[in-house]
Amino acid sequence: MCGIIGYAGHRPAVPVVIEGLRRLEYRGYDSAGVAFSGHGNLHVVRATGKLAALEEKLAHEESVITPTCAMGHTRWATHGAPVERNAHPHCSNDGSLAMVHNGIIENFQELKVELVAKGYTFSSETDTEVLVNLIEERRKNAPDVLHAFAEALREAHGTYAVCLMDRAEPGVIYAARMSAPLIFGLGTGENFVASDIPAFLPFTRKVIFLEDGEIVRLTATTYEVLHLEDLRPKVHEIHTIAWDMQAAQKSGYRHFMLKEIFEQPRVILDGFAGRMHEGDVVLKELDALPVPRRLHIVACGTSYHSGLWGRHLLEHWAHVPVQVEIASEFRYREAVLFDKDDMVLVISQSGETADTLAALRAAKKCGVPVLGLCNVVGSSIAREASAVLYTQAGPEISVASTKAMCSQMLMLALMALYWARRNEGMTLQERRTTLALLAGLPDLLDAALPAMHQRARELSRKYAQTRNFFYLGRGHCYPLALEGALKLKELSYIHAEGYAAGEMKHGPIALIDPSFPTFVLALDDALLPKVVSNMVEVQARQGKVIALTNEGLDMHVEDIWEIPRLPSPLAGFVALPALQLFSYEVADYLGKDVDQPRNLAKSVTVE
Ligand code: G6P
Repeated sequence: MCGIIGYAGHRPAVPVVIEGLRRLEYRGYDSAGVAFSGHGNLHVVRATGKLAALEEKLAHEESVITPTCAMGHTRWATHGAPVERNAHPHCSNDGSLAMVHNGIIENFQELKVELVAKGYTFSSETDTEVLVNLIEERRKNAPDVLHAFAEALREAHGTYAVCLMDRAEPGVIYAARMSAPLIFGLGTGENFVASDIPAFLPFTRKVIFLEDGEIVRLTATTYEVLHLEDLRPKVHEIHTIAWDMQAAQKSGYRHFMLKEIFEQPRVILDGFAGRMHEGDVVLKELDALPVPRRLHIVACGTSYHSGLWGRHLLEHWAHVPVQVEIASEFRYREAVLFDKDDMVLVISQSGETADTLAALRAAKKCGVPVLGLCNVVGSSIAREASAVLYTQAGPEISVASTKAMCSQMLMLALMALYWARRNEGMTLQERRTTLALLAGLPDLLDAALPAMHQRARELSRKYAQTRNFFYLGRGHCYPLALEGALKLKELSYIHAEGYAAGEMKHGPIALIDPSFPTFVLALDDALLPKVVSNMVEVQARQGKVIALTNEGLDMHVEDIWEIPRLPSPLAGFVALPALQLFSYEVADYLGKDVDQPRNLAKSVTVE
């Protein structure tokens, strides 16, 4: 999703902004641009494609200006094609204002009608160009640009994180947010505003998490945060970020995705931090909440798959009945029937996914406590939830989620154990045995990952030219089959479908032929005999099978992939990286853009 950075300081601002945008590349984008002031004018340079194209254009700019205030944007198209005229920044008709925007102004067509009637013209199809012209229009009757900015934003419905520059105030950036991420960074003699912390992390660790309905006016040495409603000043706590840029670099790996897959042992270790006391789980964040009678898990994408996986543990260990639903469906249900003591759990790596945030708000409106499971500290979901559990996985840069899922699975396991204690669903001894297995995972994975990577590489060479794939699993392996298929299609653009193995015969099996292989999660658990039957059905139709399985099982399939044995459902922690590595290797072998697959965004802030 779009990335924004604004800078006012003492350094040459354009390189600061370009580097900031580079650190936001993980969000996905299709064009980029910058604005800066000089010689009494606002200058805008934009280009389609990657940042290198923008840099190339900037290098050819005749301008000798070295501005110390600038803003930049990477655009992920929502309104209008990814072409230069739609790229940000957008200027108002008289050239006095420039704006960058992340989000969607839903009533932009109505606002545009009013502006067109007044003689405004538009060179793009974007909602942003409407908003910046609305500010120009409102400025005619406002005491200053700040009041005009606020008035226009009050008229705009939808989501936004915006930065605005005014030709008349060369060292000033205005910014505001509504349901889209925007963070303010305080430096020494320089200030920043950006969609995410890595954009400015090399310069400052001091941040303010701006909230919806707030405007900030910043210069190199001053800042004011104001309420959008009436421009009253607002005082915010300043937070210090603990992680550094090292955590956001590739550390010698070929791609962020590979690095993040290999980080999973550490992610599990970090996930435990502060959550154990005297051999049992402590989750202080949940102490004040009752054990839910029923839990509704709501999430999107990979986080949704974590929720499906977590259901097995929460029901089996903690005896909490669980429903799992995709956020974009949940938010539009005409009536969600909540009972007393129901709870909603929203899972989101970014904490900014628009549908998940809307689901959270809908549930809160019904008076149900909403627990957030997030990775990004201070994100919208984390702030709005009744309580939040952080996954502590560190920044995930690759668009395709890997270590975040592992961290979510760990937290779901810890939650299940915690509620099992309060619900007396498991004895202390049972909990301790399970915790010991979880605590052993980092070493087990550290030892197993290199061989798994090698096997993934071998299999990828054999199957990379395949056009279709099934992934099958049962029980706790079914969500993993869904995730395996999602990873393969996201990264390599090979059509892949995840299916509950038992459902295969109700239609999908018609597709099987020798060119349509099936990846089966055939781990050593109670459901294995059933899975083997489904596998045989596929083979009877000349379908090739890759079986992800454990040593010592007698499998007669095209390809066997043995991984270390763990009791179910914890075996998922080993199966998951196998699936991730297979997709990674196929995509890399095919020469795909692994960390930034086409058409995808890391943080989907539109519905
Ligand atoms: C996007 C990403 C997925 C992610 C999903 C949900 O589609 O590409 O990798 O799983 O959003 O994101 P969240 O941040 O809410 O977990």
